[in-house]
Amino acid sequence: MARIEAEILSRRHDQAPATGCPAELFLPRKAIPNIGLERIDGQRFYSPEFMSAEWEKIWTKTWQIGVRESDLPEAGSFQIHELGKESFIFVRGEDGAIRGFYNVCQHRGNRLCTVEYGQMKAFTCPFHGWQWNIDGSLKKIADPQFFRQFDQGVPEAELGLSPLTTERWGGWVWFNMNPAAIPLREYLGELGSHLESYDFSEYQLIDYQTFEWGGNWKHAVDAFNESYHFQALHPDMVEFGEGHDIPIELVGIHSRMLNFGGTVSELLDERDKMTPLRARMMENRLGIRKEDYRGSAADVHHEVLRHKRASQNDTYFPYRKMNDEQLAHQYHYTFFPAATFTQKPEAGNVFRYRPHATDPNRCYYDFFILVRNPPRTPLPEYEHRVHKHGASPIYAKALEGTFDPILSNVLQQDGSNMETMQAGVKSDSFKGMILCDQEVRLRHFHQTIDRFINEVYSADAGAPNRAPTSGLIQDSPT
Ligand code: FES
Ligand SMILES: [Fe+2]
Repeated sequence: MARIEAEILSRRHDQAPATGCPAELFLPRKAIPNIGLERIDGQRFYSPEFMSAEWEKIWTKTWQIGVRESDLPEAGSFQIHELGKESFIFVRGEDGAIRGFYNVCQHRGNRLCTVEYGQMKAFTCPFHGWQWNIDGSLKKIADPQFFRQFDQGVPEAELGLSPLTTERWGGWVWFNMNPAAIPLREYLGELGSHLESYDFSEYQLIDYQTFEWGGNWKHAVDAFNESYHFQALHPDMVEFGEGHDIPIELVGIHSRMLNFGGTVSELLDERDKMTPLRARMMENRLGIRKEDYRGSAADVHHEVLRHKRASQNDTYFPYRKMNDEQLAHQYHYTFFPAATFTQKPEAGNVFRYRPHATDPNRCYYDFFILVRNPPRTPLPEYEHRVHKHGASPIYAKALEGTFDPILSNVLQQDGSNMETMQAGVKSDSFKGMILCDQEVRLRHFHQTIDRFINEVYSADAGAPNRAPTSGLIQDSPT
């Protein structure tokens, strides 16, 4: 047990808010089920065959985050989103519904829309001018008399845009390429309920950036789903948080962990002193001024909790619905396969991981910053920025104005391992990854991938081998 955990448990006094909280506490920590100790092979990160199997059995069968609802404010607002070889159009209709379609012209297969976002009354293919309404129905084809196939009339129902399964949750439009997908809320399971205490639809997106990285998408997921690397890779982070030995839970095909904030890691000898960096992070991230705080740097989270509980009845933040962990620390949830929510009541980051269309050696890491500000607060417009592979983005510059430079460094550090990991796991000398208990989310993630690929799990509605979306996985891998 980490030192902070014992301290929290010994001093804890208000574990449940008056209104009841949907998020189950991490503490006291639950034992992690034994899911094995086997090495994880390197081939899964670079094999084209494995990439194809992932596409067929996972990407086309699971729920993904598409676009933010608020980015489609009125009828005709649309946004394009790409995943692997596919491109999709999300568009709000005259009836207010948001629909998703494959971005493919039904005539000869051209990409229908080549603009990333905007406003349209209809989508017109630039090649021969076929047109579709914003509800996906065919509007017109050019010169139908030239098509003998249509002598008896144009089969309009057959020529509509191909739809995606879509649902809304948390202010996001989610999509699934499987027409028989299980309902999203059921897919998100118990962990989805936890996060509903945040009222994500109230959050406003203030930044969206895409980093193209020179490694497989699973290296990117793995990079963020353990905190064992903090000490070596992010030495600054242990100055104002604890990620060294933290609670982790595997819940169905998803998982979560709790990173402790407002403290100093037990890895450091000097935990009490308020250094300039600790003071800056306390002020910038937690809103407590140095002159107002006289306690230990390791105990800042108690002050955060006191402050938020004291103001919970007269604030627009949903503190009353939250447990103490949510108020003082950072919840980190990953929904299989590729959506991560790192969350505080006032702000959060969403990470979305995407494979490259053809190359297992590349991926896209989408980074969203959302904030919950007073209602009707005007916010700066954001522009989606894409940092191409090899362009070496300067993360401090990319995140200027939204992130403290220390946290931009952290992202740079995380990104710095993509190419080296991709190169290393290809070596003939590499015998497979050895994962510790603090990396159990990675083991669970790769086992879940294997189970989808081997069709032990499937996300088809009604399928007997449907993936469990709640409850700990108790069985050992075979
Ligand atoms: S390919 Fe789209 S109209 Fe011909
Ligand atoms: Fe990291």
